[in-house]
Amino acid sequence: MFMCFCLCLWSLNGVFGGDEVKSVSEMEGDSVTLNLDLSEILKEDILWRFGHNTVLIAKLYKNNTDKIYAENADGRFRDRLKLDHQTGSLTITNTRTTDSGLYKVTNGSNATPLNTFNLTVYARLPVPVISSNSSQCSSSSSSSCSLLCSVVNVSRVTLSWYKGNSLLSSISASDLSISFSLPLEVEYQDNNTYSCVINNPISNQATHLDINKLCQPCEDRGLSLFYIMLISVAAAGSLLIVAAVRIFCICRKTDQEGKYYLLLRELKRSLMWCMQELL
Ligand SMILES: *[C@@H]1O[C@H](CO)[C@@H](O)[C@H](O)[C@H]1NC(C)=O
Ligand SMILES: *[C@@H]1O[C@H](CO)[C@@H](O)[C@H](O)[C@H]1NC(C)=O
Ligand SMILES: *[C@@H]1O[C@H](CO)[C@@H](O)[C@H](O)[C@H]1NC(C)=O
Ligand SMILES: *[C@@H]1O[C@H](CO)[C@@H](O)[C@H](O)[C@H]1NC(C)=O
Ligand SMILES: *[C@@H]1O[C@H](CO)[C@@H](O)[C@H](O)[C@H]1NC(C)=O
Ligand SMILES: *[C@@H]1O[C@H](CO)[C@@H](O)[C@H](O)[C@H]1NC(C)=O
Repeated sequence: MFMCFCLCLWSLNGVFGGDEVKSVSEMEGDSVTLNLDLSEILKEDILWRFGHNTVLIAKLYKNNTDKIYAENADGRFRDRLKLDHQTGSLTITNTRTTDSGLYKVTNGSNATPLNTFNLTVYARLPVPVISSNSSQCSSSSSSSCSLLCSVVNVSRVTLSWYKGNSLLSSISASDLSISFSLPLEVEYQDNNTYSCVINNPISNQATHLDINKLCQPCEDRGLSLFYIMLISVAAAGSLLIVAAVRIFCICRKTDQEGKYYLLLRELKRSLMWCMQELL
């Protein structure tokens, strides 16, 4: 009975007691206003608190002046908080991902918050990079091209491959991921449009696949390499032949006249003599 009573009280409190959490999302760098609507004349000071430790960050006094606690919460809100004296709303300018968290507003020292906001500030998304993941071409006899879509330093994002408008595959990262990638296999000569999309709940970035640039058929590359080698071998071969023919001719010439051989022998002898003298 008691447990049930407590449970009922707790759920009633959840619905009617202002315990409801309002979710607010914003893009990093933009300003966000956590809206309050205090139409009546203040009877108590209004207190804004942040995070698990519910650190006091701003106060709106009954006499309609305010105080911003810039050094609290590790000074993260320095010069970035504004209180609206009419409504009690709190504005955070130039938001950062570290501003994400719970914001509680209380009326005086009241334990029950007037309002609780769950702010999520999303980082600006990088443009996904599509690269080829087939390094060795010669070994592959398949007609498909291996691709990889990657992003770095992301958190709370989903990375997806689309063929036209239909989703092919996707993966999600919740925590910070230094390197995050998703593979795709396409046929060479595929005429469909493929795109890689990164998104979070409030924005997205897409890169379209240039299949002609990234998916050169293996055969083509293999063939051109084969031709280059063939030409090189042919060139080297003909050089060798020319050299051989010339050497053969010179040898025949010296054989006929005999003079060159004697001359060379004389030269060698005098050279040896010179060296001996010097030593
Ligand atoms: C408003 O009230 C606060 C706290 O009671 C006080 O510190 C502050 O000086 C008052 N401001 C004015 C303009 O009266
Ligand atoms: C704040 O609390 C006082 C009583 O302490 C109450 O009269 C007043 O209506 C409350 N204000 C709001 C906005 O709930
Ligand atoms: C706040 O929002 C985030 C993101 O939507 C969610 O993961 C988290 O559980 C929420 N926290 C609370 C206390 O509602
Ligand atoms: C990723 O983030 C870390 C730390 O935040 C930073 O040092 C690094 O330069 C970032 N890398 C890129 C490619 O942005
Ligand atoms: C990329 O290719 C390498 C081998 O070439 C393979 O080990 C790796 O798993 C591939 N990466 C993906 C994401 O498919
Ligand atoms: C792609 O388009 C070309 C002409 O633009 C066509 O000849 C070819 O059959 C198409 N390929 C596929 C797989 O649809």
